[in-house]
Amino acid sequence: MDSSLPCFLLFILIGCLKCSSENENNTRHHDYCVLGAGPAGLQMGYFLSKAKRDYVILERNSGPGSFFNKYPRHRKLISINKIHTGRQNPEFNLRHDWNSLLSDKPDLLFKRVSNEFYPPADAYPLYLSMFVEELGLKVQYGVDIGRIRAVQSDTGRSYILTDQHTSDYTCSVLLVATGLWVPQKIEFVGSDLVEGYESISTNPEDYKNQAILILGKGNSAFETAQSILEKASHVHMLSPSPVRLAWQTHYVGDLRAVNNDLLDTYQLKSLDGLVEARLEKIVIVQRKEQAKKRSDGKKKEKKKLYLSLKKYIQNQGEKNSSEVTGEDLPSFYSDNFSMRKPYDRVIRCLGFKFNFSVFDSSACPPHSDNAKGRLPGVTAWYEGTGTPGLFVLGTAAHSRDYRTSAGGFIHGFRYTARAVHRVLEQRYHNNRWPSTKLLTTQLLSWVLKRIGEASGPYQMFEVLADVILLRGSQCEYVEEFPIQALPQFSSLSGHEISNHGLIVVVLQYGKKKNVDYLGRNRAHSDWSKANESNFLHPVLYYYDKLPTEEEMKLRPKGWALPRPKAIHHIVEDFLTEWDGPVSHIQPLRRFLEHCVKTDLRTFYAESCFRFSLTYRKPPLFCQQGYLKQQGVVDSSQLWQHFDDAGLVPSEHDSGTSGEDSAFPNYLAQAGASVSSGLKLDF
Ligand SMILES: *[C@@H]1O[C@H](CO)[C@@H](O)[C@H](O)[C@H]1NC(C)=O
Ligand SMILES: *[C@@H]1O[C@H](CO)[C@@H](O)[C@H](O)[C@H]1NC(C)=O
Ligand SMILES: *[C@@H]1O[C@H](CO)[C@@H](O)[C@H](O)[C@H]1NC(C)=O
Ligand SMILES: *[C@@H]1O[C@H](CO)[C@@H](O)[C@H](O)[C@H]1NC(C)=O
Ligand SMILES: *[C@@H]1O[C@H](CO)[C@@H](O)[C@H](O)[C@H]1NC(C)=O
Repeated sequence: MDSSLPCFLLFILIGCLKCSSENENNTRHHDYCVLGAGPAGLQMGYFLSKAKRDYVILERNSGPGSFFNKYPRHRKLISINKIHTGRQNPEFNLRHDWNSLLSDKPDLLFKRVSNEFYPPADAYPLYLSMFVEELGLKVQYGVDIGRIRAVQSDTGRSYILTDQHTSDYTCSVLLVATGLWVPQKIEFVGSDLVEGYESISTNPEDYKNQAILILGKGNSAFETAQSILEKASHVHMLSPSPVRLAWQTHYVGDLRAVNNDLLDTYQLKSLDGLVEARLEKIVIVQRKEQAKKRSDGKKKEKKKLYLSLKKYIQNQGEKNSSEVTGEDLPSFYSDNFSMRKPYDRVIRCLGFKFNFSVFDSSACPPHSDNAKGRLPGVTAWYEGTGTPGLFVLGTAAHSRDYRTSAGGFIHGFRYTARAVHRVLEQRYHNNRWPSTKLLTTQLLSWVLKRIGEASGPYQMFEVLADVILLRGSQCEYVEEFPIQALPQFSSLSGHEISNHGLIVVVLQYGKKKNVDYLGRNRAHSDWSKANESNFLHPVLYYYDKLPTEEEMKLRPKGWALPRPKAIHHIVEDFLTEWDGPVSHIQPLRRFLEHCVKTDLRTFYAESCFRFSLTYRKPPLFCQQGYLKQQGVVDSSQLWQHFDDAGLVPSEHDSGTSGEDSAFPNYLAQAGASVSSGLKLDF
């Protein structure tokens, strides 16, 4: 108490100084400003806070994760919350926990707020509030930044953020984690007659006996369809491309099985259906239904929405939707047009886009080349191209791995946020990317450990990968580097590459097209056919020097990296446990031996003893262990014990260890090294 009192007074003093300077100046400076207190902003906040950096998280709403207060509209998250994995390993368990953020508190996990496999959306802001509170993150709520501009001064570039009270925040580094809020719209004739996902009623009763047309076939579209399926008379879904199923594409942004009841009702011919058409080419017309005379003679008039295509409208382009007559509708000419019946409602569910309008031209990142330009274009380390010091985090950074990996989703971007933080630490504070120094003889076990448990490369497959810097008898293990940035590895990570080269450990899916992922022969279990693996499996790329940017650009289509000097696939595994002595470990060891050009087997002490007598250069394992006197201490008692146990082979039975009955037969057949007695319990 006594010792903390002066500190406390000092704190108040500093606080007063600070607030007085704020009052007269109205400008606050921070080294790091994080824009948005959603999952990505808070994840970055955690890393900044842990590194004791001067940062602030600015949030326009009154609590964290406000997107989840509104979306998904039907309030069920489709990110899986698998609590029971049968394992205690927290790193491994993150492979199947798609909601928790990374922290060093082992119990700060999403399962504390919900134990449902597909959790309610309301649980997410709750989890984020807990995250902020327990880690003491500095978040300022109610700060609505409406303008961002960049200024160049002697000390370098900085960003000025102006809030709704015209207060300015200046920041050396700006981390934009605002998410995607602007509904994606497509203009077509009659697009004003369409309701948006963001404002539709979520009460299924409101759709009773109505015919509904949904524009879009993504998860929000199917989520909407799923909720009204019971009440609506017809649900049709229209978009340019056929439905893409996440279980076929391995992309979690495609249709997940949790919301796909409509596929059943379509295929079993129960009034629902899917149609393809370019949305720019459709026309939606509101007309009074040509109602039949009812028995009582009264005409029932109701406005209905008719769908047509531009090509059917005479003098197309000149007409707006109110001028289209009955003769313009396709059903007037052909009675086989799929959507000839009118709809009661048309709903747009086309996803969201990044809000570029906050940025001045001095600070505006460009539109991405992919994703229809909906996202900001960023470098492989998530810095805006052309806006140094401005990084994009979270869903908005998905242009790097759009439609390939998980960078647009919490279970992916929690790792890319960590990668960005590591880039920041190196660039602005000279702290090198964390790494583990290993003896080369430990490399095999380390690689096995990582491919057995690591969650980052598993979730961010083909994007984040471990890089092993070979240095002869030693090596350095660098985790979760964004591999598209490999040409800039040295400057981004602060690690040099030696002339021994490097190995990149990537998890990836097979590259074969049109694989039937539920068909026969979809998976291989023979290690000699590992390169034909279709499912997620580890692949090691060996380079003698860093690939150049040119090589990166010219890499084979669909490849994460350019053609390496040597490549090794570890065969896909049904259990995703790559620790089989024959199928996984031995081929991997041989590949590593090829790369480091030395024997990587492990040996008993007496073998080392014999090798050291018979070879000029005993195996590396003996050099690094036994010969450094880390072997068994010699004592006559111990030798007696060896003899009694029959561990010391006599001349005639040396090399027949495979006949040891305690050793499984398949190991002996494969000629496995007896000494690679790796036992991994994750
Ligand atoms: C306001 O404060 C900032 C940062 O503390 C400083 O750079 C700037 O010069 C100050 N402006 C005025 C007008 O005092
Ligand atoms: C986009 O940013 C502008 C400027 O700050 C703001 O006025 C607008 O409300 C934002 N749009 C959305 C959907 O948040
Ligand atoms: C359609 O065009 C007519 C004349 O060209 C115009 O009077 C009318 O306001 C337009 N309607 C809409 C919905 O734009
Ligand atoms: C309707 O059938 C005709 C042949 O009778 C065919 O030429 C036409 O393409 C069909 N229209 C649609 C919209 O499928
Ligand atoms: C896998 O390796 C075999 C033999 O080396 C080769 O014939 C085959 O084309 C390879 N398959 C793929 C998908 O690379």
